[in-house]
Amino acid sequence: CGIVGYIGHRDSQAILIEGLKKLEYRGYDSAGIAVFTKNGLEVKKAKGRLANLESELAGAPLEGSAGIGHTRWATHGKPSDVNSHPHTDNSSKFSVVHNGIIENYLGLKEELQAKGHVFVSETDTEVIAHLVADEYDGDIVAAVQRAVARMRGAYALGVLTEYEPDKLVAVRYASPLVIGIGEGENFIGSDIPAILEHTRNVFILNDGDMAILTRDGIELRDLTGNLISREIFHVDWDLVTAEKAGFDHFMLKEIYEQPKAYRDTMGARLNDTGNRVVLPELTMTEEDIRSIRNVHIVACGTAYHAGLVGKSVIEKLARIPVETDVASEYRYRAPIITKDTLVIVVSQSGETADTLAALREAQRCGARVLAITNVVGSSVAREANDVITTWAGPEIAVASTKAYTSQLIAFYLLGLYMAQVLGTVEDAVVSETITAMQALPEQVEAILEQAEVLKGIAEAVSTHDNLFFIGRGLDYAVAVEGSLKLKEISYIHSEAYAAGELKHGTLALIEEGIPVIALATQEELFEKTVSNIKEVKARGAHVIGVVNDGDVELAKSVDSTFAIPKTLALLTPALAVVPLQLLSYYASLARGNDVDKPRNLAKSVTVE
Ligand code: G6P
Repeated sequence: CGIVGYIGHRDSQAILIEGLKKLEYRGYDSAGIAVFTKNGLEVKKAKGRLANLESELAGAPLEGSAGIGHTRWATHGKPSDVNSHPHTDNSSKFSVVHNGIIENYLGLKEELQAKGHVFVSETDTEVIAHLVADEYDGDIVAAVQRAVARMRGAYALGVLTEYEPDKLVAVRYASPLVIGIGEGENFIGSDIPAILEHTRNVFILNDGDMAILTRDGIELRDLTGNLISREIFHVDWDLVTAEKAGFDHFMLKEIYEQPKAYRDTMGARLNDTGNRVVLPELTMTEEDIRSIRNVHIVACGTAYHAGLVGKSVIEKLARIPVETDVASEYRYRAPIITKDTLVIVVSQSGETADTLAALREAQRCGARVLAITNVVGSSVAREANDVITTWAGPEIAVASTKAYTSQLIAFYLLGLYMAQVLGTVEDAVVSETITAMQALPEQVEAILEQAEVLKGIAEAVSTHDNLFFIGRGLDYAVAVEGSLKLKEISYIHSEAYAAGELKHGTLALIEEGIPVIALATQEELFEKTVSNIKEVKARGAHVIGVVNDGDVELAKSVDSTFAIPKTLALLTPALAVVPLQLLSYYASLARGNDVDKPRNLAKSVTVE
């Protein structure tokens, strides 16, 4: 979810709506605002996209110069008007927006119900509004402090009360929140872009920080009420005008931005002669690298899939054992972490709650944490011991494309760098790999020129309800990402299978005409993969092969092939995934879906 707030002298509705537009990537199940109007604290909310709220407000705007807003990704309670934020208490004198989850909300709710509070929604957030109202005795700051002291979980809050219309109270605990410093006006937002149009001076709150905003000032306190000070962070980057630059969708634009993202992420990390990797941003010394005994890669969603490739890359180049885990599992399986474990967290946004929790757990256990992230200044970037930034630029479409491939580039750079330090591969292999990496951007461009072919394949595939992706080794890692991409935006069910494992059960699902996307780019495994392809073919599957350019062999045994330019086996994921991204994009389009904002998902999930 995303929250925004304003107190100043201008019309707050427009500022809140503009802020929410920037935050819509955090959820778009519903949206709402609360504004102090001449009638008191008024709330307007609507299920669905922000546009629904906007059209409701068009007829009856909320006029006033202080307010809070929210865009929701549903956790507790289905998307509906009543479950939308802001939430109020029974007197409607208190209004709250919240990002996070209050874990003990049921206990609190029962207690408040016993006292006569009546609840209208299924949300945990409504409990906060009632709790603050219950604790209120004339001082909103003290009431919020007492309420927060009783809450367990994660929260970024914006609170207003009609009794003190000159104050906006904000709290951060385990969900991100920034405070924008203006002149005669101040702001809160879940991230910097939400308020960047109005100010470049911000406080980035830490967990347990509370901000009391008035028109003329900002007071920062800890949760026991002591005044605290935080450095002003001056934002020196520009808000990239998130325009589609002629593309129909952000996703397509981002797919086409991959050659640039590869170049930018490699950039100065290759030395002048292009035969060594340099990572000057690392605080980790060569000695530290030599002491690493094992690596854990932890991430969610697409970033986790980049981690599957990362495992092979580091193991092959640096010869250190690597485990890759989804963040929500990692933390609770009592992973064996020592001070000689390097934990690599991968996150496009740098705000994913599961990943952040895993990072903290790893540090608690004494590990050094290196983050691969796309957002400078994000929570993950700030808390990790080391950061490798992927310079993919802002990614807006929910389905990740250029962030994923840039994460692959980061893993290649890191793997090579570790190998250089450890002496696990010869210099010639390092420079040969770098040369091949430098060719990747142009090779991606060559694939993009074939987009029309994939459009045709996608249209045929889009009429099916089930399909399979198969591959071995790195092809399997790419298959998993290809399958996720398709599911996310086309809503077609698909399964990625290690090609050799299919015969141990899943082959039962192969029937006449079912599409199977077979990746066969790994030369060492080629013959074995061909055997597996024959197994599905023999059972009636319609097989689309993804092969290396010049490979004519496979074409004989499948229904159609798509060829990617030839590169080193280790680097093929950075090419092979591109046709799968385009395939998903066109399949989603063919099905008439909202490509950039698929149902039920959010770009950045800041709850565990
Ligand atoms: C969400 C998105 C996914 C993304 C995952 C991890 O679930 O919908 O596309 O891969 O979060 O996000 P991160 O920002 O940590 O890479």
